[in-house]
Parts: sequence; structure tokens; C-alpha cells
Amino acid sequence: MKQILLACTTGAVLLLAAPAQAQFAKVQDAVDYRQSVFTIMANHMGRLSAMARGQVPFDAAKAQDSARLIDQLGKMPWEAFPAGSNTNTSKLKGDPWKQAAQFRQYQEKFMAETGKLVPAAASVDSLRAQLGAVGASCKACHDSFRQ
Ligand code: HEC
Repeated sequence: MKQILLACTTGAVLLLAAPAQAQFAKVQDAVDYRQSVFTIMANHMGRLSAMARGQVPFDAAKAQDSARLIDQLGKMPWEAFPAGSNTNTSKLKGDPWKQAAQFRQYQEKFMAETGKLVPAAASVDSLRAQLGAVGASCKACHDSFRQ
């Protein structure tokens, strides 16, 4: 029992001590990771947009679920932009790691807007307004950093 406990503790310490880059064994893994997150996020933006436009009936519970997911997913891609990760499958424009301050600024603005999306999703009118603000913050970054 003592050995098992010790092994567990050592394992946990090693995991905690691992450098951030070790989360992606290969550069391509980071590209796949961030593109996957963006894809799921865009899917939920699409669901909200359909409700905001009246193409599907507004459902506050579903809207808030999607808003919460977007808010959580929106924190995820940013660790997956290691320097030099403009691989063949990447649609990066420029080198965000060289313009880190500007890239970070777009992330901060975007995350501030997705935080407001969760309460806004309680009613269709506030959802529509805040969805516009979130969408504009996606576009601002894409204009600079996505092909
Ligand atoms: C801070 C910058 C930034 C913000 C904010 C941002 N994106 Fe992106 N997005 C990127 C970059 C950079 C790429 C290209 C990644 C790559 O291909 O390596 C990308 C790629 C994508 C892709 C394509 C993924 C693929 O498989 O090729 C989609 C879809 C997408 N973003 C949707 C969104 C949506 C929707 C939002 C807002 C809800 C958003 N993004 C917010 C920077 C951003």
C-alpha cells in the first residue's frame, strides 16, 4: 500500500512538473487540437445563430448550454499555437507567436464577450445582441491571423 501511494504521488509530481509544450508530442498535434476546438465552437455558434434568426425555435436551456460550451471552449485553443506551427494543414496567417501581444489582445476581447454570452442566452433578444459581439471578436482575430 505504501509503495502504491508513493508511486501515485511520484507520478502526480512528474505530471505537474512537465513543461507546457509537452502537452503536444508533435507540432501537428497542436494544429489538430486547436482546429478541433474551433470546429466544435463554430458548431455551437451556428446553433445559437439559428435560434437568434428564428430558423429554429428559441430554447433558453439549449441556448445557455451552447453558450457555456463556447465560453469554455473559447479558453482552449490558445495554448496550442507553438512557434512554427504553420504546418501544411494549418490555415494560419502570419506568425501569431511573433505578434504575441496583439494575438493575446484578440483572445482577451473574445473571452470577455463569450463570458457575457452565458447570461445573454436567457432571452432571444439579448442572445441576438451578444452573439453579434462575439462574432465580431472572432472575425477581428481571423482578419489578422487566419487565411
Ligand atoms: C484570437 C484569435 C481567434 C479568435 C478569437 C477566434 N479564432 Fe477561429 N481561428 C483562429 C486561427 C489563427 C485559426 C487558424 C488555425 C489553424 O488552421 O492553424 C482559426 C480557425 C478557425 C476555424 C477553422 C478550423 C479548421 O478546422 O480549419 C473555425 C471554424 C474558427 N476558427 C471559428 C471561430 C469562431 C466561431 C470563433 C468565435 C466564436 C473564433 N474562431 C475565434 C483564430 C481565432
